[in-house]
Amino acid sequence: MPFNMFTTLVLLTGLLISAVRLEDCFQQHFPDNGIVCVCNVTHCDALAIDKIANPGTVVSFESDITGKRMRKTISSLETLTININHSSTFIMHIDKADRRQKINGFGGSFTDAAGFNIFSLPENMSRRLLQDYYGSDGIEYSIGRVPIGCTDFSRKNYSYDEVDGDFDLKHFALAPEDHLYKIPMIRMATNFTNRQLKLLASLWAPPIWLKTNNRHNGMGIIRGDPGGPYYRTLAKYHIKFLDEYKKLGIPFWAITSINEPAGGLKPHWHNPSVGASPEMIRDWIKHDLGPLLESSGYGKDKLHLIIHDEIMSLLIHYAKNILKDPEANKFVSGVGIHWYEYGFEPYTPMNLVHESYPDKFLISTEACEGWGGNFQGVRIGNWTRAETYAWDIINNLNHWGTGWIDWNLALDPLGGPNYVLNVADSAILVDAKNKVYYKQPMFYALGHFSKFLSPGSIRLGFSDNIDHPMIKVTAFLDTNGQVIVILLNRKEEAIVASIAGVTNEPFQVALSPRSIKTLIVPSSSLSSSTPKP
Ligand SMILES: *[C@@H]1O[C@H](CO)[C@@H](O)[C@H](O)[C@H]1NC(C)=O
Ligand SMILES: *[C@@H]1O[C@H](CO)[C@@H](O)[C@H](O)[C@H]1NC(C)=O
Ligand SMILES: *[C@@H]1O[C@H](CO)[C@@H](O)[C@H](O)[C@H]1NC(C)=O
Ligand SMILES: *[C@@H]1O[C@H](CO)[C@@H](O)[C@H](O)[C@H]1NC(C)=O
Ligand SMILES: *[C@@H]1O[C@H](CO)[C@@H](O)[C@H](O)[C@H]1NC(C)=O
Ligand SMILES: *[C@@H]1O[C@H](CO)[C@@H](O)[C@H](O)[C@H]1NC(C)=O
Repeated sequence: MPFNMFTTLVLLTGLLISAVRLEDCFQQHFPDNGIVCVCNVTHCDALAIDKIANPGTVVSFESDITGKRMRKTISSLETLTININHSSTFIMHIDKADRRQKINGFGGSFTDAAGFNIFSLPENMSRRLLQDYYGSDGIEYSIGRVPIGCTDFSRKNYSYDEVDGDFDLKHFALAPEDHLYKIPMIRMATNFTNRQLKLLASLWAPPIWLKTNNRHNGMGIIRGDPGGPYYRTLAKYHIKFLDEYKKLGIPFWAITSINEPAGGLKPHWHNPSVGASPEMIRDWIKHDLGPLLESSGYGKDKLHLIIHDEIMSLLIHYAKNILKDPEANKFVSGVGIHWYEYGFEPYTPMNLVHESYPDKFLISTEACEGWGGNFQGVRIGNWTRAETYAWDIINNLNHWGTGWIDWNLALDPLGGPNYVLNVADSAILVDAKNKVYYKQPMFYALGHFSKFLSPGSIRLGFSDNIDHPMIKVTAFLDTNGQVIVILLNRKEEAIVASIAGVTNEPFQVALSPRSIKTLIVPSSSLSSSTPKP
């Protein structure tokens, strides 16, 4: 995550004004901010939801600024189609025959900060928190991003081999942070998920002796050139990490080719990093990483290599320069994108990458709110942040994205710990002192997607007349053959949307002001139009 100098710490100074129970969520209201669901040692809201809609019904789940959290409504299709208002402003026409990309999954990151916070709670609360994310009565994440060594969201900088000149990595050893935080979180997530857990590993900073500046942080690149001893050791370092986890029974689904490689090219970069141009990464993949992964049993059929892992505005620069080289291209499976630029619409760079390299999947590999500017840090209960999450997820999915990975699974009420004080917001905040954790609006925003778009769900093409910057929609076919429609209304007014192409007659749904809604339309309601050839 990029570092911002103007760090504002937003304190939670006992601003509780009321606590009420809504459905299963014990709400806590924070003035000027919003509403969270509180979990303590005896209570936490679960989302044990039946995701199969009966024939002739439409099931909807709505969350909104007034505090609704995944409120379920079952409507008969008949009531949604009679008295249909044909002059309704928003019309979405779904083309069930237009099948696009498949979902890889949704998830969060097993950072040291997340582990430190989660395991400072009583044991049954730590477990419940991971179940909230990965369990079948949670939001059913299926991806976990695992840092190789430290990130800025660690309590100190470290790597797995600081013995200068140890090119064979004889002294490589996992850190206490792996045993205390990352591995226990992974094991719990694995236990709770009904889906296959996909783990993605990313390197922030290698051992300092591989870098030109001899530090984890700051501007610095790998010594020498790709194909040389330092770059070769960087590739071995990745293999060692994968091997050590494999010995513990933890296989990985993918790795990225360095987290945010443009950061370490900048002077005064505060985060642990390694700088690399697209050409350096291209040549490192082609000479060192690609061949070594293959010869070590981590070939493309077993482990995906995801390039870029950087911001949207640099996407074309990195992706093109790496993928246009056939020798590097052949080792690459996917392209990862970070969201740290607000207002980068339209998301056309994703379309361009997809059109040029249709065999590479696109996936959002890191995102968080409160990462910079005047709004850095926690804004507890803030609904706007649920909206920006949903906004970015829908845009990604509508531009060939196959998934979305949130940053820290949990932070403390100050948005840390972060050893360079680059604090941020998080979907769950842990207040260990008071033995409570807060599920923020962002948590439910993510759930509107992750819970319903199971891996393998297929994006459906659609057209709409929604020419409004405050409204976004997307549509999928889930793995049970049901159509899933997700709608975001950022307007202060309620709206009515007509949805055509799924059922024999168009149907209408109402969206509350400032709301997110997921609809399930059962397979038996699907109209029987013949698919396009
Ligand atoms: C929520 O946070 C955003 C910045 O992320 C800010 O613009 C907005 O004013 C906040 N909303 C409230 C109600 O505090
Ligand atoms: C947990 O929260 C609920 C709802 O606020 C409350 O009734 C209960 O007493 C709390 N439990 C503990 C141990 O504080
Ligand atoms: C968690 O453990 C505490 C005791 O450590 C117990 O009082 C509480 O009921 C447990 N909560 C749940 C949900 O099992
Ligand atoms: C139909 O929708 C339009 C546009 O939203 C609205 O102006 C009109 O009042 C609605 N008519 C009825 C009968 O609800
Ligand atoms: C995972 O589940 C197994 C079997 O139920 C259990 O023995 C083990 O303790 C669990 N591990 C964790 C980390 O929850
Ligand atoms: C570790 O982090 C500290 C604090 O940011 C920094 O001053 C120091 O240079 C770093 N050490 C190394 C070896 O990178």
